[in-house]
Amino acid sequence: MPRTLKLGVNIDHVATVRQARLASQPSPLEAAKLCAAAGADGITAHLREDRRHIQDSDVIALSQAGLRLNMEMALTEEMVRIATTLVRPKSCCLVPEKRQELTTEGGLDAVASLDKLMQYVPVLRGAGIAVSLFIAPDPAQIDCAKQCGAEFVELHTGSYANAVSATERTAELDRLAKGAEYAHSLGIGVNAGHGIDYDNIGQLLAAVPYLHELNIGHSIIARAIMKGVGAAVEDMLALMNDYPGA
Ligand code: PXP
Repeated sequence: MPRTLKLGVNIDHVATVRQARLASQPSPLEAAKLCAAAGADGITAHLREDRRHIQDSDVIALSQAGLRLNMEMALTEEMVRIATTLVRPKSCCLVPEKRQELTTEGGLDAVASLDKLMQYVPVLRGAGIAVSLFIAPDPAQIDCAKQCGAEFVELHTGSYANAVSATERTAELDRLAKGAEYAHSLGIGVNAGHGIDYDNIGQLLAAVPYLHELNIGHSIIARAIMKGVGAAVEDMLALMNDYPGA
């Protein structure tokens, strides 16, 4: 049976290594091409407001190379302008951003951001960009995704990945499963991401229905340093093969 669950590889960490020396290598574009050659369905890159890893030129090059680019971005006028005029990715994922954070820490508070979402989501969609909201699997957040016209939610799997006990893990899986069911019932596509690795993906896929795409970064790039990008992507895809699909 062909694999139904899509893999988007987040290549921000390739840019993190490059920016450590403000050098030209390693190249996120070259890494993205290796991911695609190994079977990844898409590439995710987060153009942060502080430009700490991915640069404007990276997302433009990724998009121009014809890779299926999912641009992670904050809900700001600047990012909406860059996405709609310079990058035109296939999709964007709206995320919260704090300058001090190591990585995106929580989901977007779509309830608190609803006015901005109502303003910007139609602009992004009008430019032909599919919109996803990176949110916790809470019904109120999912309702806002519906209200603003986002086609997808990306359910934040960080609490599951960071759970310290079996009880906590089971509770988080239950929240994710209920969130996926609710989003699906509203006609919203369900993606998931953050903290997914080679060890925790199995339980996630066994528990959560209706998944369309996983966005995975750190674990794949970490393995890529040891085994190469192609092998790291292939290892993850092998774990996604048996997902029954929506
Ligand atoms: N999805 C979103 C919205 C993210 O912000 C991130 C982290 O940049 C990821 C997925 C990937 O998370 P990780 O690097 O932990 O796999």
